[in-house]
Amino acid sequence: MAPKSKKSNAPQKANFFQESIKKKSAGVSDMTLLTKVNNENINDNLKKRFENQEIYTYIGHVLISVNPFRDLGIYTDEVLKTYQGKNRLEVPPHVFAIAESSYYTMNAYKENQCIIISGESGAGKTEAAKRIMQYIATVSGGESSQIKEIKDMVLATNPLLESFGCAKTLKNNNSSRHGKYLEIQFNSQGEPVGAVITNYLLEKNRVVGQIENERNFHIFYQYCKAATSTYQEQFGMTGPESFLLTNRSGCLSVDGIDDVHDFNETLEAMRVIGLTQQEQDEIFRMLAIILWLGNVQFVENDGGYAQISDNEVIAFIAYIMEVDADTLIRTLTIRVVETQRGGRRGSIFESPLNTVQAAAVRDALCKGIYNNLFEWIVSRVNVSLRQRGAHAYTIGVLDIYGFEIFEENSFEQLCINYVNEKLQQIFIELTLKTEQEEYVRERIQWTPIDFFNNKIVCDLIEEKRPPGIFAAMNDACATAHADSNAADNSLVQRLNGLSSNPHFESRGASFLVKHYAGDVMYQISGMTDKNKDLLSKDILLLIASSNNQFLSTLFPEPVDTDNKKRPPTAGDKIKSSAGLLVQNLMQCTPSYIRTIKPNQNKSPSEFDTKMVLHQVKYLGLCENIRVRRAGFASRQTYEKFLERFYLLSPKTSYAGEYTWQGDPKSGVERILKDTSIAPEEWQMGTTKVFIRHPETLFSLEHLRDRYWHNMAIRIQRAWRNYMKYRNECAIRIQRCWRKNKDQIGWLQLREYGHQVLAGRKERRRFSLVSMRRFLGDYLGVNNKGGQGQLIKSAIGINDQDFCVFSGRVQLLVARPMRSSKPSPRTLVLTSSHMYLVVSTLVGKVLQMKLERSVMLNAIKAVSISNLRDDWMIFSIDTMNPEEGDIVLECDFKTELIAHLLQRSGGRIGVNIGPQFEFAKKKGKTGTVKWVKDERAKTETYKSHVVTAPSGEPADSPSWPPCEKIRKPPRPITSGKLIRKGGPAKANNSSQGSRRPPAAANSTPRAVPVVNSAVANQRASVQAPVRSPTVSNGSSASSAPVKRQAPPPPPAPVAEPAPVVPSKPMYKAIYNFVSEDDGEVSFVKDDLMEIVQKDENGWWLAKKDGKEGWVPSNYLVEAPAPKPTPPPSLPAKRQPPPPPAAAATPTASANSSPAAARHTVAATTERAPVAATTNTNALHGGFGGPGNIGGVPGWKVALEAKKAAAAAAAGGGAHSAPAPAPSTSPTPAARRPGPPAVAPKPSVGAKPVVPPRAPVAGPKPTVAARPTTGGKSLQEIVSWFTLLVLLLLIFCCCAVAMSMRIGLLGVMRSLIIRRRHPLF
Ligand SMILES: Nc1ncnc2c1ncn2[C@@H]1O[C@H](COP(=O)(O)OP(=O)(O)O)[C@@H](O)[C@H]1O
Ligand SMILES: [Mg+2]
Repeated sequence: MAPKSKKSNAPQKANFFQESIKKKSAGVSDMTLLTKVNNENINDNLKKRFENQEIYTYIGHVLISVNPFRDLGIYTDEVLKTYQGKNRLEVPPHVFAIAESSYYTMNAYKENQCIIISGESGAGKTEAAKRIMQYIATVSGGESSQIKEIKDMVLATNPLLESFGCAKTLKNNNSSRHGKYLEIQFNSQGEPVGAVITNYLLEKNRVVGQIENERNFHIFYQYCKAATSTYQEQFGMTGPESFLLTNRSGCLSVDGIDDVHDFNETLEAMRVIGLTQQEQDEIFRMLAIILWLGNVQFVENDGGYAQISDNEVIAFIAYIMEVDADTLIRTLTIRVVETQRGGRRGSIFESPLNTVQAAAVRDALCKGIYNNLFEWIVSRVNVSLRQRGAHAYTIGVLDIYGFEIFEENSFEQLCINYVNEKLQQIFIELTLKTEQEEYVRERIQWTPIDFFNNKIVCDLIEEKRPPGIFAAMNDACATAHADSNAADNSLVQRLNGLSSNPHFESRGASFLVKHYAGDVMYQISGMTDKNKDLLSKDILLLIASSNNQFLSTLFPEPVDTDNKKRPPTAGDKIKSSAGLLVQNLMQCTPSYIRTIKPNQNKSPSEFDTKMVLHQVKYLGLCENIRVRRAGFASRQTYEKFLERFYLLSPKTSYAGEYTWQGDPKSGVERILKDTSIAPEEWQMGTTKVFIRHPETLFSLEHLRDRYWHNMAIRIQRAWRNYMKYRNECAIRIQRCWRKNKDQIGWLQLREYGHQVLAGRKERRRFSLVSMRRFLGDYLGVNNKGGQGQLIKSAIGINDQDFCVFSGRVQLLVARPMRSSKPSPRTLVLTSSHMYLVVSTLVGKVLQMKLERSVMLNAIKAVSISNLRDDWMIFSIDTMNPEEGDIVLECDFKTELIAHLLQRSGGRIGVNIGPQFEFAKKKGKTGTVKWVKDERAKTETYKSHVVTAPSGEPADSPSWPPCEKIRKPPRPITSGKLIRKGGPAKANNSSQGSRRPPAAANSTPRAVPVVNSAVANQRASVQAPVRSPTVSNGSSASSAPVKRQAPPPPPAPVAEPAPVVPSKPMYKAIYNFVSEDDGEVSFVKDDLMEIVQKDENGWWLAKKDGKEGWVPSNYLVEAPAPKPTPPPSLPAKRQPPPPPAAAATPTASANSSPAAARHTVAATTERAPVAATTNTNALHGGFGGPGNIGGVPGWKVALEAKKAAAAAAAGGGAHSAPAPAPSTSPTPAARRPGPPAVAPKPSVGAKPVVPPRAPVAGPKPTVAARPTTGGKSLQEIVSWFTLLVLLLLIFCCCAVAMSMRIGLLGVMRSLIIRRRHPLF
């Protein structure tokens, strides 16, 4: 893609760039760092660097380039890549850095750019321009074919226009003989979509004459040397030595220029640009016409007039011009003159020309054709480069002919030097004058710096009034239009009037202009003619007569022979196009490249100090450095700066969104402060911010570039943290589940059992203990071997029959003629039956015998008292008159009931009352009555009366499993985003929870204009956090946020009630050290008031008058001090209400006769059979082999209930939750079968006791818990009974003996007693 240096003088390849990176840099790379600023030091610095093969040096953002006159290998693609995306301070000075800066600024700041390259002829402007195009074409994106095409075309313009517009001069082997401004157009993505070339004044004189050792335009030599055979045949092309126009100056070839190679490049460029073969042929036809016309020679005829010396040449020219040969001869040798009389047209006559005049006509024709051909090519290139799609921005590259001083300087040099003066003026205007004026205007502290302003020279050349040089030339042409000499003389007269200008000296036939770059003496002779720039009418008519279409299109103006209006002169044209150029450049952000020519000999090693010093002076580099050193590297309007850098401050942006609502100036100030830019680095003007050093700007740009990158990294980090957190949570849950899954079911069954009886039956102290689980099979019936096996075989169940419950009971056994009496039995409950087994000792062998088996379906109800005793009556629906209801005492009554309900799907009713009837054998009935007697130490049964002391209150909750000592949660994740201390705290470090207080604290600011909607929205979100109601601590504020209506005003009371703090008080269970403003520290046991509960785990607390956020999981609710004893407690200890319901026994509604037998003393309830009950559920219930670790339906109901209760507790409402419906949301896979237990009877629907607060207060002493491994409670009781019995017997014996009862009788009674199976 990179174009080859086409006409390099000494293309010796050197790996200079790599060397320059490795080797030590010479001098300073930015001359603003020179210790002493003067022209000599600048010169020295440039010299050192040139000798060190460092041709580029900066003055701030101006690039100084010294022509190395050799290929340094610094424009390769690798080098180019090192400049891509870098700011100029990161990499050594280079033309690529300027191109990068322009391209970056265009994209970043959306401003049109221009790069102004100035310097002497041969100083390296065109090379620099080519490198810039190379850079832009490479880095500007866009892989679409259209964009690639544009890039290729833009690059192809170089060889094409160089061939036609450059020539070898004494100063430069590839001297541009025209000015060129190439504007590359980009779309909003920074892709080139088109280009426009503006051409400035071609030095057309060169076509017909060059001074010695110079050449005509390159294309002529290329064409002559490399013309194809077709062109040779068609247009008679031969070598350059055959044509006067190419051989006259005696320079046919140039060192380092390969014309044949270049011709092919030119043809290739034509192809790339899209010139058709026909167009190319026509171009080469025109060149042939010019070359052959140059060979036309005139001799004097007899009359002393010009005569064509060789008519064959004319014939050939006429042939290729497609004109009549005679007309051509007449045009070249005869002038048609029209006399004028008093402004009216007079007679027309023909005037033969002398040889000099004829040669002038010939030359004019050649120049005219070439000039117009060149302009046609430029406009044709523009047609091809016409933008595809809309363009947003442009980068212009100005490569204009350099300042020239020759021995003989004419009109062309005046124009060239004038344009250079204009460019110097732009430079002065923008870098010295305007910059200083801006400092003053913006009230920036500034000491003015003197500089030479070349405006006076520009005025000297271009001013209309008083007339400058161009105006004088126009006047001279107008007054003496017919005669060139007269016009020149007139010009001499007129120029005398300019002598008052200190930059002008009139020297007779010449005049001197003191240009910024040196004094130039211009020869007046021929100037007016060149200025007139008119083709004679004869020539125009000749061309109009041509049959060649292309030739005609080169001269499009219709030949108006009568037109008297003065056409614009060359001076006018160059003035207006220079004016337009200046206007255009002034609207862009300029970059400058100032090229310096180190010697006149194109030598790669010579550094002509005098010559360079001269350039350093006239380029004003010294002043440039001074202004730059004192000035600011960058200035930007506040609006633009804010728009570009708002991301850099959290005050001006949030999550990439622009949020600043203040004025732009304070926004800019905020950004600069927040990015910690040193205050001496910037100054605030009235409309702009000034940044002193480029490094500062670059660092801001760098921060900005990194912003999105950093954001992406933060999001990724947060996501990774979240994933880690999630995994860790899952692992912890799994670990916890694995640890507890076997226990959970037992505990939950126990919970369920207590729910069933909850509030209706006093409780034993032992049954409250924390670790009591409803294991069920206490006698190990399900085990293989041992006692369990004995029982199993006694009952006659096989291994598949699963025992749900087994335990010792005392069965009320009827005795003939005596009152019934408790007798030990073994009770076994399977999923279908309840068995009673009696054990007897036969000899010393324990024998077990099934006494009774009852199908669960036959059990209708279980009746128990509301006292703490263990007696229970099973109402059996049996047809056998020999079997009555079962009355027994079972230590694990709650568990037995729970299992029964579970197995029966809640069908079996649970009755609670002070007395119940029960069916005896043979249709008889009995009544068991319960009596409370506080004197009794334990409950006793005698004659159908059970006496029991008070137990624990009926609603005493079972203790939850013993709490482990709680440690602060181990941090789940590490990293910047999640704070140590666990997820709850981590969540709170997020912006969201911090933002409201911060925003609420902010001082009032100007009413937002742009983002008012956003602000309002935010304000409405923040309002509740710091609303006065909340913060003033009124009782209303302590209400949970969700509460809808305020509480009604309290009713007037007779006495002032004690002040009860209505706000929830919380106690700290850990120390907490705040890490942030807005948090409140506390130590363990501190009390504080919670003002607001936030769902994110942080609560707004008020402690010691200070409000702040605290982690909610560090607190437990402290019980509010109760001024009066709670009314509910004694009420609960009261005996059950009198059996009002006894008058209307609900059992009457029961159709079953057995049920009808029951006289229900208190509430009789039957749990409805759950609709979802099914056999599967019955058999696969909890404890079954298939259910280990499963989640039964009743458990779900229980969980739902708990959750509802917890929610109600959290919301401050302690209303009783409705029992969860049996249709539970438990996943089916986890619920292999247990029936969804019907909701507990609605009586005494009791709120589920919330889990105990951790470590809040002294724990109740834990009673020794019954274990399956040691002696069971029943065993202990039995031993105790035995002891008492023995004592009793002993006493009886003593009494009997004393009462003369025979010893035998005593012994007998003893034996009978001992025969009872007491283990
Ligand atoms: N950076 C450069 N590296 C190598 N050679 C250069 C460089 N700049 C200029 N030259 C040589 O100097 C010659 C003149 O340069 P050019 O750009 O045509 O000058 P200008 O356009 O200023 O008149 C080029 O043909 C080339 O041989
Ligand atoms: Mg040039």
